[in-house]
Amino acid sequence: MAVVTILSEDKTLTEVGEIASTLAAHGIDYERWTPAHPIADNAPADEILNAYAREIDDLKQRGGYVTADVIDVNPNTPGLDEMLAKFNREHWHDEDEVRFIIAGRGLFHIHSADGAVLAIEVEAGDLIRVPRGTLHWFDLCSDRRVRAIRLFQDTAGWTPHYTGS
Ligand SMILES: [Fe+2]
Repeated sequence: MAVVTILSEDKTLTEVGEIASTLAAHGIDYERWTPAHPIADNAPADEILNAYAREIDDLKQRGGYVTADVIDVNPNTPGLDEMLAKFNREHWHDEDEVRFIIAGRGLFHIHSADGAVLAIEVEAGDLIRVPRGTLHWFDLCSDRRVRAIRLFQDTAGWTPHYTGS
């Protein structure tokens, strides 16, 4: 389950319905997914995608996504710091950022259009969709590990644009 902190209000949310409704008010989709059958979080990527095929296909239809893949990041990933440096500064994309967490954790910050800043720590079972154009940044947690399904409308749109904020 995700943990959401609204920084300006010093308020922390841990209940799924409250998280989903609060994030929805800021344009962010949040869902909990369960696989069609039990599957190890280190299973091959094609087995992971197969276990969540129903949810993936549903989201593809709703969001116009054409491809899905599985990304693996751990402390031994070559170039990890350089990779994180691209995404831990405020930026936006011309494409939605859609992640379903298989293992590990991630920390998204959303800079909402109304000025609020929300910290969203995601873990296994969490689906987050950050719409195109939303100001945000991302970092790993102390375990520096995340395995996640990504969905794309067009991978070319995933280039970050930095705000300098
Ligand atoms: Fe991003």
